[in-house]
Amino acid sequence: MSKMSVTLAGVELKNPVMTASGTFGSGVEYSEFVDLNLLGAVVTKGVANVPWTGNPTPRVAETASGMLNAIGLQNPGIDVFCERDIPFLKQFDTKIIVNVCGKTTEDYCEVVERLANEPVDMLEINVSCPNVKEGGIAFGQQPKALEEITREVKKYARQPIIMKLSPNVTDITEMARAAEAGGADVLSLINTLTGMKIDIKRRVFALANKTGGMSGPAVKPVAVRMVYQVANAVSLPIIGMGGIATAEDALEFIMAGATAVSVGTANFFNPYATRDVVRGMEKFLENEKVADINELIGIVK
Ligand SMILES: Cc1cc2nc3c(=O)[nH]c(=O)nc-3n(C[C@H](O)[C@H](O)[C@H](O)COP(=O)(O)O)c2cc1C
Repeated sequence: MSKMSVTLAGVELKNPVMTASGTFGSGVEYSEFVDLNLLGAVVTKGVANVPWTGNPTPRVAETASGMLNAIGLQNPGIDVFCERDIPFLKQFDTKIIVNVCGKTTEDYCEVVERLANEPVDMLEINVSCPNVKEGGIAFGQQPKALEEITREVKKYARQPIIMKLSPNVTDITEMARAAEAGGADVLSLINTLTGMKIDIKRRVFALANKTGGMSGPAVKPVAVRMVYQVANAVSLPIIGMGGIATAEDALEFIMAGATAVSVGTANFFNPYATRDVVRGMEKFLENEKVADINELIGIVK
């Protein structure tokens, strides 16, 4: 069998396939469909220092080949997360990546410090959520702010830090360089693209928040382009995501320069999507006689 393992900042994953934050919870519901032992890593829903109630409903809407969401990072807070979700995930032979959200630099640092002694493998810092009014995206759209928050978070972190980039910027490479300058270990991209949908019969916005983050197969070409640009701008490893639903989708990201990939919205229309992507990639390597997935990373120049 071909080698599927990849390494991100010294952390070895059995394969490059992980879940995208916010689309898989902490794996409890999905574990009825997918054996979590099959996955390279589970990336949890964003967790803050205190519980957040999220935005008013409606918070999701379907779009052509995708969806809009404005959940607003509803989460139970770090205390409940550590007591309930980490022990659940520790039962499985997969890496645990905790997605961290906050409104201020101090909020982020508090969660990162709290996780320093927890048995989790990496932390993904979400500075790119378009649905939270204060903080969040502000850090993800200004290079100086991104560099500074990366540097601050690194002071408190015991685990490697993944900075998650927003596609809602003029030049994604400028943001990638800022995160690298701040000391990021890994970059992940893309978060959702800001969008809007209008209910013409009721003459209202489809989402109570008016705007939401667009995700799903429709965003994939944008995401592949950005992964390619970032891979050529920095020397950090990349986790690619945005519209991945099949092994073929995932392989596009790998060939564009991603070391690992996350499956997000596809989990909603196919709860077996992560497993299908792992199996499909294994099959592709075998059929194409590729001995090691690492040979394909960034192969398209
Ligand atoms: C319902 C929903 C909730 C999400 N919540 C988070 C989150 O908590 N933290 C985060 O960094 N990204 C979050 N995201 C963004 C995804 O992790 C991912 O970056 C994005 O959806 C693109 O991938 P996809 O097209 O495969 O879904 C969320 C996406 C969706 C659809």
